[in-house]
Amino acid sequence: MFKVFVYDDYEGLSQKAFEVMEEVVKQGKVTLGLATGSSPVGLYKRLVEAHKEGLSFKDVQSFNLDEYVGLSKDHDQSYYHFMFEHLFKHVDFNLDNVHLPKGEGSLEEVAAEYESMLSQNPQDLQLLGIGSNGHIGFNEPGTSFDSTVHVIRLKEETRQDNARFFNSIDEVPHFAITMGIKDILRAKKILLVASGKNKAMAIKEMLEGKIREEVPCTILQNHPDVVVVLDKEAASLIKHD
Ligand code: F6R
Repeated sequence: MFKVFVYDDYEGLSQKAFEVMEEVVKQGKVTLGLATGSSPVGLYKRLVEAHKEGLSFKDVQSFNLDEYVGLSKDHDQSYYHFMFEHLFKHVDFNLDNVHLPKGEGSLEEVAAEYESMLSQNPQDLQLLGIGSNGHIGFNEPGTSFDSTVHVIRLKEETRQDNARFFNSIDEVPHFAITMGIKDILRAKKILLVASGKNKAMAIKEMLEGKIREEVPCTILQNHPDVVVVLDKEAASLIKHD
């Protein structure tokens, strides 16, 4: 079931996303599923501000959706680095309780270990962005709805979308390790944030499209509690108030 909220701009959607996450964090000992990319930056900024006013993460554990294969933790485009710079270093997370799949070493072992941790620690809240092609996490079009943690070859459109963070497209990794669809759906509540015109079609498919593996986000129609927070551009192809 979807609850959809539409705001004029990125600031408005970030504030709403913050309020949804703050409510969960305030419960203390909770498990968050976290995302990277440009969509959650405003939300993380607000969490950092709220921490200065007393919001604590000391009992929170977190699991990130994904990591690029081949980038070390300290590479400036690794998702570990992103999380550290935007959130972890500014708040009181116990770093032993923050988890990302490692994009190096024996990826089969990393995947099995991450899957085992996830299945024992279901997310109270899973934060998601969405790809312009409808991916969630890095579950690209065609990924099985039964998938667990796995290595995936990134689609060319995803590499193009993410090239803006790198010096050139050639530097964008071809592979990532990601939570599977099954891992995402285990969350009690899902918070999906999207802004900009290039997300409008994926949002329409997610809400109104036929459920199919070619458009991974459509599976969210089967989840009981999905809060969708959009700006006007991302919502431009759907009916809303
Ligand atoms: C990030 C992730 C991706 C992004 C998506 C949107 O951890 O799993 O699914 O959420 O590619 O990225 P942005 O927010 O940069 O448009």
